Amino acid sequence: MLPSSDGGSRPACPRCCETIICVTAATKESPFLRACRRQPVPYTPVWFMRQAGRSMPEYRAARKKRTSMLAACMNPDLVTEITLQPLRRYHVDAAILFSDIVVPLRAVGVDVDIKPGIGPVVGRPVRRDTDLAQLRRLEPSDVPYLTPAISSLVAELGSTPLIGFAGGPFTLASYLVEGAPSKNQERTKALLYGNPRLWHALLARLTDITISFLQIQVSAGASAVQLFDSWVGTLSPEDYRAAVLPHSKRVFQALAGTGVARLHFGVGTGELLGLMSEAGPEVVGVDWRVSLDEAVRRVDIGTALQGNLDPAVLLAPWDVVERRAQDVLSRGRTAEGHIFNLGHGVLPETEPDVLARLTDYVHEQTVQEDATGTR
Ligand code: CP3
Repeated sequence: MLPSSDGGSRPACPRCCETIICVTAATKESPFLRACRRQPVPYTPVWFMRQAGRSMPEYRAARKKRTSMLAACMNPDLVTEITLQPLRRYHVDAAILFSDIVVPLRAVGVDVDIKPGIGPVVGRPVRRDTDLAQLRRLEPSDVPYLTPAISSLVAELGSTPLIGFAGGPFTLASYLVEGAPSKNQERTKALLYGNPRLWHALLARLTDITISFLQIQVSAGASAVQLFDSWVGTLSPEDYRAAVLPHSKRVFQALAGTGVARLHFGVGTGELLGLMSEAGPEVVGVDWRVSLDEAVRRVDIGTALQGNLDPAVLLAPWDVVERRAQDVLSRGRTAEGHIFNLGHGVLPETEPDVLARLTDYVHEQTVQEDATGTR
């Protein structure tokens, strides 16, 4: 493994540095990326959405010293430290960059903050054409902390892949239009239904920002990207197809040539899984409401699945966790590739030891006799 460069640049030229070539090749063959490509794996890979977060005492300690969530996301040393924290505790098969979906919005100058216990709050919500002016294109110089953080992470992580991410177009739009977290996204849907021209103009701008944000992460060394369209499950398939799919498709197409694994996830998206796979990712994430064997029937052929243990199960006794995890694994075997995860983020009250035990349990239960991973 390479020594960490404290926020410095990525080691110079991959062609003249043997270690880098080895690291890159080993990362490519990691169980996580093999599962994304639907190739045989030595064991089912595991990571957890929100694995770095309030469930970890060391995260709470690191955050205490900083003023705000967004300030933490803009500090390369802190981003590196927090991203690595879960890797020190759990034998997870991927790291996810510590950031937030509203980071690129703030980077282009949107008046957005993350209020503790509430979520993203926007100063001047988007309601009219003129409000779009706050959404200019994102340049690498708008996120100067991103490349140093990712470079040092990739060096530290060795063969473990780093997942970059961005918010999906609907979810970003929902925060901008509502101005604050909303249960049913009424104003967002009213805009989508009532003013499709403004809606598509808004989503086109958000898609441009998202593509730049992801491309910067990929250039810096992320080997997978997840598009979190967390709240899109509030739409019907017909509305999703017309109002969101073209934009999500454009995000995945823009990254198609980079060779990174592309993942797509939303909550309550059981009825949208087919359309979300049509958007073009290698992997579709599934929440706990639809079993993985049913999800297999809903996504396009050639799509791997990620999920889908209910995060609340981790608050139940261990024998329940074990039984439920076993059920996820057996249904996951019907997928062309399966990455074990929760159906949404780790709940803050989750005991870290349960995540550690669950990670090892999934690995033990799925280890293949044949070390090549052939089933
Ligand atoms: O998964 C990870 O470990 C990476 C970190 C990550 C964060 N946000 C850090 C964070 C990721 C992937 C996100 C994405 C994100 N942010 C999403 C999509 C994923 C999902 O959960 O559906 C959404 C919808 C947001 C918006 C957002 N940011 C919300 C709703 C909140 C929670 C507000 C609260 O206090 O309950 C945030 C804040 C946030 N982002 C926290 C973390 C660890 C918690 C706040 C804190 O630590 O102060």
